[in-house]
Order: sequence, then C-alpha cells, then structure tokens
Amino acid sequence: MTTRIYVPCDAAALSVGAEAVAKAVHAEIVTRKLDLKLVRNGSRGLLWLEPLLEIETPKGRIGYGPVKASDVKGIFDAGLPAQHVLNLGRVDDIPYLAKQQRLTFARCGITDPLSLEDYEAHGGLKGLRKALEMAPAAIVQAVTDSGLRGRGGAGFPTGIKWKTVLQTESAQKYIVCNADEGDSGTFSDRMIMEGDPFVLIEGMAIAGLAVGATKGYVYIRSEYPHAFRQMNRAIEIAREKGLLGTEVLGSNRVFNMETRLGAGAYICGEETSLLESLEGKRGQIRPKPPLPAIAGLFAKPTVVNNLVSLASVPIILAEGAEYYKNYGMGRSRGTMPIQLAGNIKQGGLIERAFGLTLRELIYDYGGGTYSGRPVRAVQVGGPLGAYWPESLFDVPLDYEAFAAKGGMVGHGGIVVFDDTVDLAKQARFAFEFCAIESCGKCTPCRIGSTRGAETVDKIMKGEKVVQNIDLVKDLCETLRDGSLCALGGLTPMPVMSALEHFPEDFDRKPSRAAAAE
Ligand SMILES: Cc1cc2nc3c(=O)[nH]c(=O)nc-3n(C[C@H](O)[C@H](O)[C@H](O)COP(=O)(O)O)c2cc1C
Ligand code: SF4
Repeated sequence: MTTRIYVPCDAAALSVGAEAVAKAVHAEIVTRKLDLKLVRNGSRGLLWLEPLLEIETPKGRIGYGPVKASDVKGIFDAGLPAQHVLNLGRVDDIPYLAKQQRLTFARCGITDPLSLEDYEAHGGLKGLRKALEMAPAAIVQAVTDSGLRGRGGAGFPTGIKWKTVLQTESAQKYIVCNADEGDSGTFSDRMIMEGDPFVLIEGMAIAGLAVGATKGYVYIRSEYPHAFRQMNRAIEIAREKGLLGTEVLGSNRVFNMETRLGAGAYICGEETSLLESLEGKRGQIRPKPPLPAIAGLFAKPTVVNNLVSLASVPIILAEGAEYYKNYGMGRSRGTMPIQLAGNIKQGGLIERAFGLTLRELIYDYGGGTYSGRPVRAVQVGGPLGAYWPESLFDVPLDYEAFAAKGGMVGHGGIVVFDDTVDLAKQARFAFEFCAIESCGKCTPCRIGSTRGAETVDKIMKGEKVVQNIDLVKDLCETLRDGSLCALGGLTPMPVMSALEHFPEDFDRKPSRAAAAE
C-alpha cells in the first residue's frame, strides 16, 4: 500500500510556509521515484509546530516540525522516518495532543479533508445514518439530552432551539451555520472548515432532518478565503456522492446547502444581523421577538447555530447522548475546543471536557508567554470578554462558574498578555471596538461607546481621574442595561473587569501637557 505523507492546507500552516513545504515534498517524491502519496490534511492544532509534516509508519504517524521548504531535502536524505533535529516522534504522543479529548475535532488533521471515503473510514456518516432512522422529535431529544449548548457565545441549549423550530409549522425552514467567527483569538470554526468540512455538512443535514428544514446556508467570514473554497469543494463532493440532494444517503429525505461570504463586520456574527446580511441587506440588529426560530431567514423558522455546535451533533447521534453528556461538569456538558492565542509560547487548539482551568491551559498546554515574561492578564470569550488576573486562573471552565466571577466562556478564545500590557489602554480599546463595530441602531451603543473612549483618554492623561472613572462606570451601566444587543450590552465586561482587577493601571497622574494648561 502506498504510504501517505501529510502537509497541512490549513490557513495557519499556509501562513508560515506550508505551501512551499508541500511543493518541496512533491519534488522529492518525483525525483526519488518514491511510492508516497502527498495528502493535504487540516491542522492538528499544534500551531507553534506548523508547518507540521507527518509520515505514516507501522508505529503511527511520525511528525517533523516546524519544517521549512529548505529542510525537506535533508529530511528525505536522512530517510523517512529517521533521526533528524526536527523529528518529533509519534504525533499522537506529543503531550499537547495526548492530553486532549477530541470528539468534535476527532478527524481534524488526521484525514484528507476532501475525501468522503476517508471521512467514513474514520467514523463519519454514522450519526446521519442513525438520524435517518429516527423520528424528528427523537433527534431533537437526543441533542437535548446530550446537554449541548451553543458554542457561539451565549451557551443556549441547542436542543431547545431545535424544538422551537420543529414545533413551528411552515412549508419552508432553514438551517443557518454561523461561521462568522469574529472573536479575537478564535479559529476553531475555520479549522473545521479547512480540516474536516464533512462533519459540518453531516451536522447540518442532521439538523435539517430534526426540524424539517431542507435548505442550509453557511455564513463564512470574509477573511477566510481558504475555508470558503474548501467548504464549497466539500459541498460539491457531498452533492456528487449523494450526501446532499433530493435523496440524502439514498433515503427519500431532502437536504441541500450553500455557502455565503460574510460582510466583514463583527456585528454580522450576531444572529439577527447575520440573517439581514444573508438576505442581502446591511447587517443590522433585528429586535427580538420574533426569535429566528419562529421567524428567521426570509421570515421562515430558522435554526441559527454556531459551526462548532453543528459539528458536535454527528458524534452525539453516532455515540448517543449519554456518551457526550458524560464529559464535562455541572450544566456545561461535553467538550469545548479552546483556542489559545496572544502572547503564548504554544498557541493552538485544545479540545477538552469542560472543567479544566485557565492555569492548566496557559501553563501546561501553552508553556507560558511567548515573550518569556510573566502572564499578567487573559481575556476569555472574545473582545467582549473579561480581563482576568492570575488570581482567577483556577476557576473551572464552565459557563456558570465563569459567569459567577463576571466572565464568560464565549466561543472559547483565550488571549494571553504579559506584564507589559496596559489595561487602561485595553479598556479604551473595548470602547473603540464597540464604536467602530456598532450597527448604529441604538443610542447607548452608538454614542456611549465614543463617549467611553474619550473618557478613558482623559483618565489616561490624568484628568479628573476619580470623577472620570465614576463616569465610565455610569456609562457602562447605561450600555449594559439600555443596549438592544450584546455588542453594546457586553462592552462593559472588558472595561469593568479591567477597572476591577487592574485599578493601578487607571491611577494616572496628570501628564506634563495637561498640568501646564
Ligand atoms: C456582536 C455579536 C457577535 C457575534 N458573533 C458571533 C460569531 O462570530 N459566531 C457565532 O457563532 N456567534 C456569534 N454571536 C452569537 C450569535 O448571535 C448566536 O448566539 C449564535 O450564532 C447562536 O448559535 P449557538 O447557539 O450555536 O451558539 C455573536 C453575538 C453578538 C452579540
Ligand atoms: S447595541 Fe450596538 S450593535 Fe447592538 S443594536 Fe445597539 S447599536 Fe446596534
């Protein structure tokens, strides 16, 4: 049998030279007339080792990384696999991977992302086959029983949302996958689209069977050209092979899907703005009610779910609700793909059951900061998440435990900062971000965000610091209570957490210029 050699086509790997490595590998195979097949896999999520080259052996896959194109000849000269400075041993034994619990990401980086045969050989389509034999309400019940909650940020129970759509009468219903992935430091949606797109297709088809929807859309952020291409290719293959269409896997059930490129605005990740954008309009918030589950895309009942939520459904159906539910803690069931980014030595994707701590993530997996300086703060849950100091690093990763401390899990993005970070600047950035990304529909967010940035500017110049801090707190209260959506409503979280946990950064003395006035 031809041995396979792998070089990722994931955008993170491409950004550090994977394409040149793949070309060099191909050239060596041709010139040396080797019986090797080059596979462009997704990323394993060990981003500091990218480009990670892997070769199949009887003992498992042996990795080399990070590989440059100029290293390839030497690796082949040494013989594959052989002693080499870049040889990492068995990839599955690298502690970062060995300590994970990969359910949703079980195939990512392992299979050829565009081979449906490879997908099936690694457990794919088992969930959809089971769903085809089940009544819609039984599928919804399985998802409810699994305890799966939305991985897009709000953590709403997926089964409950599906039940509403199932119970709403309509000749046409839709499944919309939110792959706008706007949160800072997040890339799990992208990794699935590039590394295991069929798991999303399978998840969306199951969602369609569950609620009675025959059409799905994947709304992909505009900054993801590789994911967009890969997803389109996978959908084409799925259509050709009968996974999508009028006879899903040979049944009499219909499900079709298409992709749409996002409009390049953070607010288009919010589900109602996303629906506006999908309908070809400017991405602005729709007031709720009605919920999208009742009147969503083109006013039809619509499931809007984050990509990871949908991609987690196949394993729930394949292995059963109990299997999935047995992972996790409290009301946070299953696993969470955590994305470690910012100033971190070993950034990447870590899928683990809920309940592990930030300390484990930052130090055991991440190896501390990239700069080598002490960690001072982390922001969890995207640009609207809280800034936390080391004293909170032992809070278990769990929706309720994080909320109790004034934070949120969000989409699982963790951005790490060392001791050179200025939290007053970060608070200003939160207001500025809100001002730039505001859809403009409501006053607290549209005006308040700009006034907030101006007020933090004054604090940073040492102008009436105490009064201006009170003003910021007052403004945050107005934003939190008076905004129409969570962009304005959650901007206070990074600002107030910075003030609460890092007050010393706001204790500014008047600058010389201000004092001279
Ligand atoms: C400003 C804003 C931006 C958002 N961006 C995203 C996003 O990029 N991706 C996402 O899945 N959810 C995002 N959400 C959450 C969605 O509104 C919605 O809750 C989610 O798509 C529902 O799917 P889930 O239940 O599977 O999480 C955002 C929410 C807000 C308020
Ligand atoms: S809070 Fe901001 S983004 Fe949300 S509706 Fe109001 S103006 Fe638009």
